[in-house]
Amino acid sequence: RKDLLALEPLTRDEINLILDTAVPMKDIIRRDIKKVPTLRGRTVINLFYEPSTRTRTSFELAGKYMGADTVNIAASGSSVVKGETLKDTAKTIQVMGADVVILRHGMAGAPKILAETVTSRVINAGDGTHEHPTQALLDLFTIRESKGSIAGLTVTIVGDILHSRVARSNIWGLTKLGAKVRLVAPPTLMPPGIEQLGAEVFYRPEEALAGSDVVMALRIQKERQQKGLFPSLREYAKIYGINQERLALAKDGCLLLHPGPINRGIELSNTVADSIQSRINEQVTNGVAVRMAILFLLMGGGKGETIN
Ligand code: CP
Repeated sequence: RKDLLALEPLTRDEINLILDTAVPMKDIIRRDIKKVPTLRGRTVINLFYEPSTRTRTSFELAGKYMGADTVNIAASGSSVVKGETLKDTAKTIQVMGADVVILRHGMAGAPKILAETVTSRVINAGDGTHEHPTQALLDLFTIRESKGSIAGLTVTIVGDILHSRVARSNIWGLTKLGAKVRLVAPPTLMPPGIEQLGAEVFYRPEEALAGSDVVMALRIQKERQQKGLFPSLREYAKIYGINQERLALAKDGCLLLHPGPINRGIELSNTVADSIQSRINEQVTNGVAVRMAILFLLMGGGKGETIN
């Protein structure tokens, strides 16, 4: 493939190849080997139209660990504010020699438009409410690392499903790898018809959490709410917030994930966010390894090149 735009079109084998490739990448991070020359001479550009800490920084580190030149462009500090279109910005970046453009954009489908416009490879770092494929891949990696495999697990995703590109990518990824996916949210934050993607819909967290192997809480995306918040944050925290009592309804050894950033006291209590069940910090570390694997594979990895 030229680009990584979504998990929807990926096969199970392609997903597993990325996860398998991320294993030795994590070893590189763990062994504190700061650079391997695999991508020396390649240029990776982060083009972000929305804020980010984890995705942007981990792509930057992933490129740097493999010797690539990495450049960050925030739309707010670029000629986008003077009215330049996405296509013109992308072409400008391409003719400066970008091998890969990593795009975060508020509009669903923006990475696809970019991929059709430039010859550089394009990676979707989150597009509107559509997909966030690299987040789901790091979530899959984290679950597989702790549980051994994904097939047969029950994964409950709780929170603002309506606005969540993380939920959509995870539904595609988890179901392709054989997990059962449960979604739980207030009716106002549950998109109609989402069960057609192969997930089971719940409105009462107690029912969804019972028997879960993994609980993934999502951020309430206040910035994407169009009609004001309903329920209020206080009501949400009371009914849907994951605390010790609710997490205890899941299976023993249930993992707790959150893509971040967390609204503490709303989606998660402090106690569960920092508990031994939490894999939130591991998700962030794994994000670097998985993004190294994606850059490596997109730029011809596995064809005579080694990463050691
Ligand atoms: N999970 C995630 O995408 O975080 P950032 O917005 O910080 O990149």
